[in-house]
Amino acid sequence: MCGIVGYISNNSPASCENVAKILIKALEKLEYRGYDSAGIAILESNGEKKIHMIKTKGHIKDLCALAADKFSTLENCRAGIGHTRWATHGEPNDVNSHPHMSYSKEIALVHNGIIENYLELREFLTKHDYKFLSQTDTEVIAQLVEYYYKETHDPVKAVRTATNMLQGTYALAIIFAEHPDMLIAIRKDSPLILGLCENRNMFASDVSAMLEYTRDIIRLSDYEMAIVKADSVTILNRFDEEVEKTPVKITWDANAAEKDGYDHFMMKEMMQQPTAVRNTISRYANGTRIDFGLKSITREYLKNVRDICIVACGSAYHAGVVGANLFEKALRIPTRAQIASEFIYSDPLINENTLTIVISQSGETLDSLQALRKAKELGSKTLSIVNVEGSIIAIESDDCIYTQAGPEIAVATTKAYSAQLVVLYMLLGHILSIRNDDASIESRYLSECMEIPAMLESILEHKEHIQHLASLYQNCESIFYIGRNLDYALALEGSLKLKEISYIHSEAYASGELKHGTISLIKPGTLVIASCTYEPLFEKTLSNITEVRSRGAEVIALAREGNTKLESVADHCVWLPKCSQMTGPSIAIVPMQLFAYYIAALRGCEIDKPRNLAKTVTVE
Ligand code: BG6
Repeated sequence: MCGIVGYISNNSPASCENVAKILIKALEKLEYRGYDSAGIAILESNGEKKIHMIKTKGHIKDLCALAADKFSTLENCRAGIGHTRWATHGEPNDVNSHPHMSYSKEIALVHNGIIENYLELREFLTKHDYKFLSQTDTEVIAQLVEYYYKETHDPVKAVRTATNMLQGTYALAIIFAEHPDMLIAIRKDSPLILGLCENRNMFASDVSAMLEYTRDIIRLSDYEMAIVKADSVTILNRFDEEVEKTPVKITWDANAAEKDGYDHFMMKEMMQQPTAVRNTISRYANGTRIDFGLKSITREYLKNVRDICIVACGSAYHAGVVGANLFEKALRIPTRAQIASEFIYSDPLINENTLTIVISQSGETLDSLQALRKAKELGSKTLSIVNVEGSIIAIESDDCIYTQAGPEIAVATTKAYSAQLVVLYMLLGHILSIRNDDASIESRYLSECMEIPAMLESILEHKEHIQHLASLYQNCESIFYIGRNLDYALALEGSLKLKEISYIHSEAYASGELKHGTISLIKPGTLVIASCTYEPLFEKTLSNITEVRSRGAEVIALAREGNTKLESVADHCVWLPKCSQMTGPSIAIVPMQLFAYYIAALRGCEIDKPRNLAKTVTVE
């Protein structure tokens, strides 16, 4: 959604330019979270105790130019805050960008999240003669903090009183001109992580912003407030009692946040898929057994569970559709995948007999977090499948299975999605093995999973064919993805990849359903991408391909090698290695990812940071 960062140091040089450089560099690592505007505010620590602020619509590189102009001569500055924005309240422009200052200009803050009662609070402040410059909910928070600071002259009390009045989500970084030796950080639902260093401290929405300075981090929990000084960090719980939290050491490598010679993070991460899958398998494979190390969800529970609901957003939801399909078919218990934002308000039939599985790469998507909380409220056991260790969804679920994809920077997920699928395959094998009291089932599922990495590698080694197909269809106005059963779930993800990064309109359609209306949109030249990996319905999909071709569509078909019938009905065939029925979606998604990538590249799109998107959306 947005990225926020705070920095304070006793190191030299104590110059505004130096603090600005560090804040901007940290924000560059957070740009994937939102990039329609950016800004920083810096505390002058001696003399007149002033806050200096620059902010602008546009990317962070536009901020660098402003900083060079405004901050080059300012001395005695040791602390500051920064923000990169994905607009929610108020269009992306200079006034609406963060930081926002209080009326007196003595307080500045940046915010990630959404305040739902901000209009009511704005009205309250207006009655007390406060004026507003922007349309944002964030400026209301700044004014509210000032309102209570004027009453108490205590930054901690002012922040606590003000934030206790907020309804919604927030991660805040706050500075007070009269207190240049400290920053305040506080969160509810939006991520905020402290980075502990020698003689300086930081905090940010994501570890990647601080890796250059430290690997010792502390994740704040909801309502916790941190008073961050250059040589100390004090953490208060919601009752303002000091709490001790043990730092965690981050182990993944710093270059994870670098492109390593690839044109885009997305290509790097597509190429990392074999490793992501291999690492995920080996993390939970124990010889021929599968061991997720579940603590709260027991074997007994898995033996008797009678209902499974998989909840997620975006690509994680599409992984869930594959999972639900496979689970219901194999376990013979009702298993459904639901979109998190629909699930929360659908009065779902969830109870203590339901296992709710929440899938999330970031572990911070608010829709998925709220769905998790709803499921727990209804008595369901909750299991999360998450890529970011220690994220709020991982912490709040009864048990969590971490995918081992490593940090994923490109907004359009690839390697995390592939790792989610393999966790679902292994989880299915694990549950099936328990319910049938048969260890050989796990061994069979494991060996099917272990075939995936080499198959992915073979596809990635021959990506030129996909690149050629992309060149033929880069100017399409609309592209249809069709398939049945597992291939329909695959079509959902293939279509989303194309939409996310190439901005071409696309629809995924159950190919048996196309004739009931939407086939009216098929006209000569329409491109249809047909997935035919699900063998039991191969013939039926073949006839669906014939249906669209007879109406002038051009068809790219994906199928396992050897299905030569396809050559007579499709314009182009993308042959896949002979994978198992279960792992078809893991194999066939890679040509679709590559197709979307190459079309987007030919169309000159911002592949890693597509317009209007953010890697993690922490608003409902
Ligand atoms: C969207 C991202 O905002 O959130 C998608 O653009 C992603 O790529 C979806 O699949 C869910 O995110 P997460 O982190 O919960 O898997």
